[in-house]
Amino acid sequence: MKFPRCDETEAWAALKGHFEAHGREFDLREAFVRDPGRFAAMGVAAPEVFADLSKNRLDTATLHFLRDLARECGLEARRDAMLAGAPINVTEGRAVLHTALRAPRGAGLHGDEVHEVLEAMLAYAETVRDTAGSGIRHVVNIGIGGSDLGPQMVVPALDAFVHPGLSFHFVSNVDGHDITPVLRRLKPEQTLFIIASKTFTTQETMANAQAARAWFTAQGGKDVARHFVAATTNVKAAAEFGISTTFGFWDWVGGRYSLWSAIGLPIAIAIGADGFRALLAGARAMDEHFAQAAVERNLPMLLGLIDVWYRNFHGFTSRSVAPYHQGLKRLPAYLQQLEMESNGKCVDEDGRALSFATSPVVWGEPGTNGQHAYFQMLHQGSDVIPVEFILVKRPTHALTDLHHKLLANGLAQSQALMLGKSSEQALTEKAPTASKSLDALTLARHRSFPGNRPSTTLLLDQLTPRSLGALIALYEHRVFTSGALWGINSFDQWGVELGKALCSDLLPRLASGDVAGLDGSTAGLLKRLRE
Ligand code: F6P
Repeated sequence: MKFPRCDETEAWAALKGHFEAHGREFDLREAFVRDPGRFAAMGVAAPEVFADLSKNRLDTATLHFLRDLARECGLEARRDAMLAGAPINVTEGRAVLHTALRAPRGAGLHGDEVHEVLEAMLAYAETVRDTAGSGIRHVVNIGIGGSDLGPQMVVPALDAFVHPGLSFHFVSNVDGHDITPVLRRLKPEQTLFIIASKTFTTQETMANAQAARAWFTAQGGKDVARHFVAATTNVKAAAEFGISTTFGFWDWVGGRYSLWSAIGLPIAIAIGADGFRALLAGARAMDEHFAQAAVERNLPMLLGLIDVWYRNFHGFTSRSVAPYHQGLKRLPAYLQQLEMESNGKCVDEDGRALSFATSPVVWGEPGTNGQHAYFQMLHQGSDVIPVEFILVKRPTHALTDLHHKLLANGLAQSQALMLGKSSEQALTEKAPTASKSLDALTLARHRSFPGNRPSTTLLLDQLTPRSLGALIALYEHRVFTSGALWGINSFDQWGVELGKALCSDLLPRLASGDVAGLDGSTAGLLKRLRE
């Protein structure tokens, strides 16, 4: 199955013309004046998530051209190939089937294996949650990248659903400053270590796992087999480490798509079997939407298409994520791996160099904290950075007043980005803190906002296991969409290999001081580190 790359299509050429004629100068404020029905037309309801796309720099014509682009690039056929288990990860000859992990029994590929591990993992999670029986109070997940970021993002996001007698800790960095303060607070008999690693060879995870085991025995811990479990595709290596309780998964689950597999064990322990099933069900609902909805109402596809529009036509280099929910504080970090490790590529599936840009930089912080840090740059900086607001209608706390303030802030930011403020407007306003020695016009220029800055707002009714599952799956499929249009393999990550290989070379040199053959900078730094 071969489809043209985006830049080889007629739609791409049409989009270029459309951008020059209407896109570059598109003004959101005028668009709302021209079309009072814009919000209704550009609101998309997907399972658990409503998206307001109306504050984006596009119109119906843009959406038509983008839909044509999707058709010409075979987006739907590519999606179907992924869902059917075709080996679309071509550089590793692997299928990409994280969607199979959330299919009900009998409805997905590899169903028997998937549900066998799921049942075992959920049953185990329930035994740990029985704190009277297990004696466990602390769960420490040791993993990195996809074996860390998913659970590390989801557990605090679902804090309201987490077992009150259990504390969760996430150790990832091969930096003793990560694990040391965690271990300081623990007692061996109350602690469960989960060693999470798809390969069970990752340097950071293995080093931390060994440090944890050494601490456990040094502190008088008795039963390694009871206090250490593993989530891995490499069951043999886990057994060699001394772990007898292992939950496996498969090479068709990519690291950054693995929180639905055994890598989700900390989540299952935190929110229980029913909660984990609800998380899977939410993702499954989004999978069905992605698989069935027409392109023009298919939210992951629309978001991916807008990403292409912004990256390749407007030339926007980054996207900021602003979750107005403190529980989602790790969502930007999670999305950085999901999107940038997937789509940060500069050759296509056939190894041909790309003549266009791919993954934007994804970054952000929860609102309102971000407002008091970098939002200045979003409003008045020289770059246009599309922002994605995530608002949650109903909190899981009773502090209604705070929640209303939070929501009002989120709405105000997207409104301010779009509306801006002219210097004429600023001139009419009083600015009590402004310098009295500056003339009014200069001051007004400092106090004006260009506006017309785009944003998308995603609305969730409440942050629950089900809605979070749907939200994450939405992001996964959006990343698939832009990657498919760019014609890249979104499912490998060769870009992390070179640094790993060089690290293996440098590690013994740090001990020996041998700098032979090194470049001048690395040799100089290594020497200084040894002084
Ligand atoms: O950073 C590269 C990477 O392979 C990620 O894709 C993966 O999530 C992470 O390392 C951890 O790998 P593992 O689960 O095999 O320890």
